[in-house]
Amino acid sequence: MSVVAVVPAAGSGVRLGAAVPKAFVSLGGVPMLVRTVDGLLDSRVVDRVIVAAPADQVGTARSLLAGRPVVVLAGGADRTESVRCALRAIGRVTEDAHGGERAAGSPGGGRESQVDTVLVHDAARPLTPPELTAAVVAAVRSGHPAVVPALPLADTVKQVDGDGRVHGTIDRSVLRAVQTPQGFSYDVLRRAYAAATSAATDDAGLVEALGEPVHTVPGHASAFKVTTPWDLELAELLLRRRTS
Ligand code: CTP
Ligand code: MG
Repeated sequence: MSVVAVVPAAGSGVRLGAAVPKAFVSLGGVPMLVRTVDGLLDSRVVDRVIVAAPADQVGTARSLLAGRPVVVLAGGADRTESVRCALRAIGRVTEDAHGGERAAGSPGGGRESQVDTVLVHDAARPLTPPELTAAVVAAVRSGHPAVVPALPLADTVKQVDGDGRVHGTIDRSVLRAVQTPQGFSYDVLRRAYAAATSAATDDAGLVEALGEPVHTVPGHASAFKVTTPWDLELAELLLRRRTS
């Protein structure tokens, strides 16, 4: 049985405002996408990665990731569509693993065993510890069909209207901020996407809509998503500390 990681990387990064799409922004001299993919492979629990890149960056992404067990294809108009494009490719890619061109770098070069677990991981979380990925896969393999890394909230949370007026304070003890990688049994994720009627900000939300249970494991501060220039600066600082 094998684990495939789907990496949605097709966003443009409007909030970051860089000259290139966010996944291609350099972080300590290495594109964010490369750091994210290498982090997944470093976990040693991921057999293959499918990257959904912006349509005009597919070639660039392929050269950046050459030599790794990675397939790059064009993503879609929103994150849900990008993940959907990658999921559609799973069957194709693993069938091709028997010597097909797309299978370059396939572990062992032979027929890949059947996919049982699929991770979905944002390209925009380049500092995610490989241990977190391993913990998510372990939780799926222990019998949870859907697993998300979750962190408690530090700030008080208010409900506000469009004018900025507060309408109440939400009990934060029952709230969690969830991260990626999110892990799923392949069957459950496939059914969740087949049933999805609108875009969602995470994949577990689609599984919840099916009525399937979603389990949490402790998230990690380093798995934060690079969204704004401040996040990028934080990531640069953390990397510098790591290498000094
Ligand atoms: N993503 C994607 N396809 C899209 C939109 C987003 O694959 N059409 C990916 C992004 O590349 C990112 C992840 O989904 O890795 C999380 O999205 P987000 O942080 O919102 O990235 P962007 O959409 O690129 O950023 P922004 O919303 O600021 O434009
Ligand atoms: Mg976005």
